[in-house]
Amino acid sequence: MNRKNLLMVLIAILVMMSLVLSACQPQAVAPTETQAPSGEEPMADQVEVFSWWTGGGEAAGLNAMIVVFNQKYPNVEFVNSAVAGGAGTNARAVLATRLQSGDPPDSWQGHAGQELIGTYVKDQKLEPLNDLYAEQGWLEVMPETLIPLISQDGNIYSVPVNIHRANVLWANPTLLQANNVSMPTSLDEWFAAMDTLQAAGVTPLAMGEQWTAMHLLETALLASLGADAYNGLWDGSTDWGNAAVTKGLEDFVKVLSYTNPDAASLSWQDAAQLVVDGKAAFNVMGDWAEGFFRELGKTPRTDYEWAAVPGTGGNFQFLSDSFVLAVGAPHRDAAIAWLIVAGSKEGQDAFNPVKGSIPARSDGDRSLYGEYLQSAMDDWASNRVVGSLTHGVVANDSWKSEIDTALGLFLQDKNVGTFQTALVAACQASGPCQ
Ligand code: GAL
Repeated sequence: MNRKNLLMVLIAILVMMSLVLSACQPQAVAPTETQAPSGEEPMADQVEVFSWWTGGGEAAGLNAMIVVFNQKYPNVEFVNSAVAGGAGTNARAVLATRLQSGDPPDSWQGHAGQELIGTYVKDQKLEPLNDLYAEQGWLEVMPETLIPLISQDGNIYSVPVNIHRANVLWANPTLLQANNVSMPTSLDEWFAAMDTLQAAGVTPLAMGEQWTAMHLLETALLASLGADAYNGLWDGSTDWGNAAVTKGLEDFVKVLSYTNPDAASLSWQDAAQLVVDGKAAFNVMGDWAEGFFRELGKTPRTDYEWAAVPGTGGNFQFLSDSFVLAVGAPHRDAAIAWLIVAGSKEGQDAFNPVKGSIPARSDGDRSLYGEYLQSAMDDWASNRVVGSLTHGVVANDSWKSEIDTALGLFLQDKNVGTFQTALVAACQASGPCQ
């Protein structure tokens, strides 16, 4: 072999060795932690996410999803700007001030429905996410019923992370048994059960601060009106002044007569805890209560029982927490990374079993969910679905706040006539009854 040939052979050996060596190197995972999801620019080193998930059950759910985010984007600091207070009563006021002064968090929790469309989209605070939906294939896995509630003029504005059920009656099985009471299915059965419990010195129904009264009210309206007429309240086809609404409000007054006198000073967690602690028999609350009960170490069927709120069986009164992308998000790429996690199967299956909700995606891993949530999955698939007032589905913020003001007065005077007149006026001022 002459020198030239020898050189060629050596070069060939070196090339082959370098190929073998490079094949042994660990492969890069896309997207890398320092790369934006779009792949071109280095990603911002933080993302600010705003919610009201600080309390029992709620923070734990969010944290489970943050763990997934941190695994995927270890170089992006997750700035958790949650503001305490159930149903976002405090947080949404803080958010409104920030949005007004042009200081938006990168992403925030907003409810699918009118809260999103009639408030943030109307005020042009959100970026459309159609490209992200196409890229992530979300249209194939998100429920068809949900897409119109987060869309306007062909643009999709949020990433739903879950489905919660609002019309759930939680009960303490030991207290019911001790008083020979079974889970009621109709309003009459419920009233009879609560009479028995009250006579035995048991607080029949635990309630908390004002938004939990609105939550109870929406279930009472659904019970007395049925799904069609209840839906009609929000699209203008049911008259707020009609006799079925009067009946719903009268039922509501009766339900309120069974509640604890210190309701106004209790959070939803305080009220729900009265049930699992054996200090009250029933509580009406969304299924985030299940996340809280689990966090307290309670066992389904032993420490708590559940059913649809009496009179609402067969209906799934729903709401959906979703995350948005702010117009002018200071860390836009990192916010998109957060949305990708929030919309992913992995993110949703980490968040929802802890939060007490079912995944918005249809391909969640059922085996990760407990007995209650599996029953909620079945009901979501088979029940009539209607929207929640308290949690942003059916009314925009201004209408809801007028209803809330009227409710505040009603909780003081319990005057059905005055309340109904105020509800008619609210629909005329801010709803579809103009
Ligand atoms: C709802 C929200 C739920 C839960 C609840 C109590 O508005 O959608 O995820 O957080 O408030 O705070």
